Amino acid sequence: MLILGIESSCDETAAAVVADGWQVKSNVIASQIALHAETGGVVPEVAAREHVIKIIPVIDKALKDANLIFEQIDAIGVTYGPGLLSSLVTGTTTASTLALIYNKPLIAVNHIYGHIYSNWLTFGSRPDAVKFPVLVLTVSGGHNELVLMRNYEEFEVLGRTRDDSAGEAFDKVARMLGLGYPGGPAISKSAQKGDSKRFNFPRVMLEKDSLDFSFSGLKTAVLYLVRDQAKPSKSFLNHVAASFQEAVTDILTEKVLRALRRYQAAEMHLAGGVSANLRLRQKLAEKLSKNFPNCKFKYPEDFNFCTDNAAMIAAAAFFKFQKYPQSFREWKNIEAKARLMDL
Ligand code: KG4
Ligand code: ZN
Repeated sequence: MLILGIESSCDETAAAVVADGWQVKSNVIASQIALHAETGGVVPEVAAREHVIKIIPVIDKALKDANLIFEQIDAIGVTYGPGLLSSLVTGTTTASTLALIYNKPLIAVNHIYGHIYSNWLTFGSRPDAVKFPVLVLTVSGGHNELVLMRNYEEFEVLGRTRDDSAGEAFDKVARMLGLGYPGGPAISKSAQKGDSKRFNFPRVMLEKDSLDFSFSGLKTAVLYLVRDQAKPSKSFLNHVAASFQEAVTDILTEKVLRALRRYQAAEMHLAGGVSANLRLRQKLAEKLSKNFPNCKFKYPEDFNFCTDNAAMIAAAAFFKFQKYPQSFREWKNIEAKARLMDL
């Protein structure tokens, strides 16, 4: 089954074609990073206007790269939220219009569940079947969750952030350090030259058994340290970046270990923009092989599957369609298609 995925929830306009929920036929991403670097963050109005310009060329390229014409697509999957409303409107309106014109099923996808399915994607041969239950740590700029998946489309949220997400903390700290946008890659690069033990930032773990996250205390600790420096040296900034990255990855890793002590899981998947962080991958790999050797650790195969993309949305749409096929096939009238019913 061929699904065209469309994603426009934040600052990437993306379209992709994925077969059967795993095989990526094309993955096109028009990034707005250069545009938002000027302002040091996403300005919703600017992002929305850029989506309007890019959405059709991006979809067109995704079909061409896959060597397909629209009639050969079986269904359309689109992100309906969470995200910036003015950005989401472009993707959902385009998707519902195309679904109407070509009479295709339209499957609305939750962006976070999209990230969860990013570990299913490959450009290569068919991956091994996933073994459930799967514990997923999904960490982005906009969200930060621990989710237990007992089967396809069966999600239980075990913990979430009480303030910022880890990605947001990376972005804000990078801004404090003058490292630019987006913060995650900038901090990782700077951290490579720094000493991660130079500053002992707080690792807020909340109540003893809590699987929730909090990063605001850590962010404030960095702010207090940095604001007292009149002219911070390059090496000072590198040490702060390294020590901050160490604290964030310690918190994320400890929460995963806590969850695995409580819930049995055959696999542990890392997803979302922060899954691109090499230190986090390394730390999780070490701790899991030591403490839970039977739990298979996975992160997205391609760096483009970590940050926002439409291939993950097409994959999530596929599994949703498998579970509720009739609901989408029966969508014959305009109102039902336009309502983007969430199942
Ligand atoms: O999933 P994503 O593209 O967008 C949201 O759904 O929010 O994630 C973007 C986030 C940003 O906060 C960015 O700083 C972070 O992912 N990120 C990273 C790295 N690459 C991107 N954080 C840490 N290390 C990285 N290498
Ligand atoms: Zn995302």
